[in-house]
Amino acid sequence: MRVLLTGATGYIGRRLTDKLLAAGDVELRLFVRDAAKLGEAVRARAEVAEGDTFHPDALARALAGVDVAYYFIHSMGAGRDFASRDRLSAENFREAAVEAGVRRLVYLGGLGVRETASEHLRSRLETGEILSARPEAVQTVWFRAGIIIGSGSASFEIIRNLVQKAPVLITPRWVRTRTEAVAVADVLAYLAAARDVQVEGNVVVDIGAGVTTFAELLRGAASVMGLRRLFVPLPFFTPRMGAYGLVLLTPVPFAVASALVEGLRSETVKQNDNAARLFPRVTPRPYERAFADALDEIEARQVLSRWCDADAEPVCGLRPPASLEAAVYTLRRFAPTGDLPPARVFAAASAVGGEAGWFRLDFLWKLRGVLDKLCGGPGAARGRRDPRALRLGDAVDFWKVREVRPGKRLLFAAELKLPGRGWLDFVVERGRFVVTAYFYPRGLLGRLYWYLYWPVHALALADVARGVAAEAGRPDRRAGPAVA
Ligand SMILES: NC(=O)c1ccc[n+]([C@@H]2O[C@H](COP(=O)([O-])OP(=O)(O)OC[C@H]3O[C@@H](n4cnc5c(N)ncnc54)[C@H](OP(=O)(O)O)[C@@H]3O)[C@@H](O)[C@H]2O)c1
Repeated sequence: MRVLLTGATGYIGRRLTDKLLAAGDVELRLFVRDAAKLGEAVRARAEVAEGDTFHPDALARALAGVDVAYYFIHSMGAGRDFASRDRLSAENFREAAVEAGVRRLVYLGGLGVRETASEHLRSRLETGEILSARPEAVQTVWFRAGIIIGSGSASFEIIRNLVQKAPVLITPRWVRTRTEAVAVADVLAYLAAARDVQVEGNVVVDIGAGVTTFAELLRGAASVMGLRRLFVPLPFFTPRMGAYGLVLLTPVPFAVASALVEGLRSETVKQNDNAARLFPRVTPRPYERAFADALDEIEARQVLSRWCDADAEPVCGLRPPASLEAAVYTLRRFAPTGDLPPARVFAAASAVGGEAGWFRLDFLWKLRGVLDKLCGGPGAARGRRDPRALRLGDAVDFWKVREVRPGKRLLFAAELKLPGRGWLDFVVERGRFVVTAYFYPRGLLGRLYWYLYWPVHALALADVARGVAAEAGRPDRRAGPAVA
């Protein structure tokens, strides 16, 4: 069976890629906007088709000869017109699939009903309807999930951070709306089985591990983590206040927090029992077990994907211009590394950020993250997927990895709310480690920003250069692998 997986660099797609490759009975083709985001191990084992859903030629090439195609694409985060982009994307995909003679489309969207759906959920429902609109030509298996619990999922990170950081948790009416959670491992089991499940015509499969509320999920998390928390019902706590609370206490930016809170205002529970009927071998695990599994994955450094892996825009659109040297502003600092092997220096440089922090001036980076959060940016609390390894597209605090040249170079793009565009460049040279900040200002404000922050940036960059050199020289430091 030849299977096409879209969204293979996203949260669900990366994990399903792993699962389908392990199954060994499919010829897997991945449709991605930038193959470099996949990592070498995956590229070696699966065929890769590059392109996006707004280019019918790329879709035709990707879908040629395919039996089953998975659709895990959305444009959330791509601005106000995300719903129309989602519609066009789904229409293009369905038409290309029909043209290529694909037998079955498998889609994962959100749980809920149109009448009470939030704007984001409505778009997910519309996508399902569009994909299912030509049942005579291509069959659609449409899964609908509520809150997905897994290491690195946005909902899990929100719950974990809230419960860990707040001794008192406010439970307004809207956190007591009925909802359903499901473990990511169970979602993957359903999705993988959907490639050859015996079913006639289109089918909608609602999945979840039983009706609960967000307040109950918080309680369950506290019990799994062995934390005593006080729950205070406060009826006047509005969803907007809730979203701001989430921004301050959890790693998600305002857009993700408000989408979650909006989603909680209406019921999201299963509308059919097709999951149990069509997939009797999958028994969704209870929430507490799903939560504990996610914690174990973090502990074992087995986080395959995170909610911030995908990009609002294609990665290539965020790549720096051909020559960074042409940046309007450049600030460079370096530290001697003597005769340390480049692999060691690179490994030390690859471990910056996240829980390890940014050396002696870490508090300044943290402060910058808080200021960014207050301005609606991602802040520094996203941390990193893995404490040592990096791959293209990984988030590291408020940076995104844009180039990884093992042993030589790491380039990060700033995702902070900035009056311009910024990059942080690490280069391992013979005998020294070089850190450079590049900045393309936007207007006068951008220029003012650069000069205002210059002294702080100069100190912080010098500290990082020194810190990496010192870390690389530590006798107990393990070298590599720094690339996933
Ligand atoms: N994650 C959850 O908790 C959750 C819960 C319920 C339902 N779902 C549903 O599951 C599905 C997948 O979600 P996810 O969390 O895995 O999403 P995600 O992590 O945001 O990934 C989205 C993927 O789509 C790709 N993409 C975006 N626009 C594209 C385009 N025009 N052409 C080609 N690729 C494009 C992205 O590629 P780049 O890497 O290049 O950006 C990325 O691989 C969605 O329908 C979502 O509604 C998810």
